[in-house]
Amino acid sequence: MTKHIGVFVTGGIAAYKVPGIVRDLIRAGHEVRVAMTASAATFVTESTLATVSQHPVLTDAAELAAPEQVGHVALARWCDLAVVVPATANTLAKLACGLADNVVTTTLLAFNGPKLLVPAMNDGMWRNPQTQANVAHLKDWGFHVLQPATGFLAEGHSGVGRMPDPAVIAAFIATVQDEAFLAGRRVLVTAGGTRERLDPVRYMTNDSSGKMGTALANVAAAAGATVTLVTTATLPVLPEVAVVPVVSAEEMATAVLGAFAQTDVAIMAAAVSDYRPKQAADAKLKKNGPAGLTLALAQTQDILKTLGERRTHQFVVGFAAETDHLLAHAQAKLLAKGADLLVANQVGGGRGFNADDNAVTLLAPGQQPEPLPAAAKVEVAAAILRRIEASL
Ligand code: CTP
Repeated sequence: MTKHIGVFVTGGIAAYKVPGIVRDLIRAGHEVRVAMTASAATFVTESTLATVSQHPVLTDAAELAAPEQVGHVALARWCDLAVVVPATANTLAKLACGLADNVVTTTLLAFNGPKLLVPAMNDGMWRNPQTQANVAHLKDWGFHVLQPATGFLAEGHSGVGRMPDPAVIAAFIATVQDEAFLAGRRVLVTAGGTRERLDPVRYMTNDSSGKMGTALANVAAAAGATVTLVTTATLPVLPEVAVVPVVSAEEMATAVLGAFAQTDVAIMAAAVSDYRPKQAADAKLKKNGPAGLTLALAQTQDILKTLGERRTHQFVVGFAAETDHLLAHAQAKLLAKGADLLVANQVGGGRGFNADDNAVTLLAPGQQPEPLPAAAKVEVAAAILRRIEASL
């Protein structure tokens, strides 16, 4: 869904990365307008941000450029969502006090919609109890705050305070939720296609990208859940998501079964290989010539089915990726796996695997199939999670 996104730039060194973030938002189909403080303008130019956003930038000097409308009031009316990136310690402190002394703080005070903060600063400034108290205060007021990353800081040492990767910021913006509808829930998600090793240089796998499962994990975290993501993919995740990287079906089964007791909702979105080579060769397999090669395969554990059998209090959700007879195959899987909900997913012909959009139908025992409108995977993830929450 196209949004009007206000990007508010304050004066930290990470401001030099903002033009790339603006461009990514526009590429994702959003409209962007930028406001910046005088100190931000010492790190990134107004003309760069005007060019990438395709609109004039609101600065203190431009506040009354069109006297018939006050700049910060007009921008606050235009925005659906406001992102402060980078948010300096100084701006966090001003926002926590409700100060309005420049175009960024005045617009944010006038704006009633969702406000996202991407703090980036020196590690000492971030850890300072005054900054932490300001952040806690802002969260109480409903600001969404992205935890800074740990890594190499502009000062030349490693610490917490680094601006997260643009891809993580994009995930933060895309998955923000109006309400913490999963607060207090523990959600376990699997994502990606497993890899089953044949020899030291080869493996069997499938086309799953992990985008749907990762979107579910990010949206669940944004909705306040405690999230564990068992995944073969390396896609951007919110800092709150606990990632357990795995490769094979066996590793995935061990990780999922180990976490299941402490789970309220288990969503198995991964494309798990049904078979693995009986024996992974220690040395590279040699060509067998025209006689061909026959691989001996052993069946892997069906993780979802095992969860269906072992569940106590957990709500168990499966996916069914099908190229044909979608609903018939999916209904059969719902019963065979003992799931509470099955997300049926047509794949093939450019749909399902690896795409950014998805169209799914939800199946629950004894209920009519419920098709969801085709939408971006994060929107589909939010719809699935709301449906799950309604059933808990
Ligand atoms: N699944 C699983 N463990 C497996 C295979 C599948 O947990 N070894 C889960 C998937 O994560 C998904 C659901 O079962 O939630 C359905 O997966 P799918 O590959 O569509 O179905 P299969 O059970 O493998 O059946 P088939 O391959 O015959 O379609």
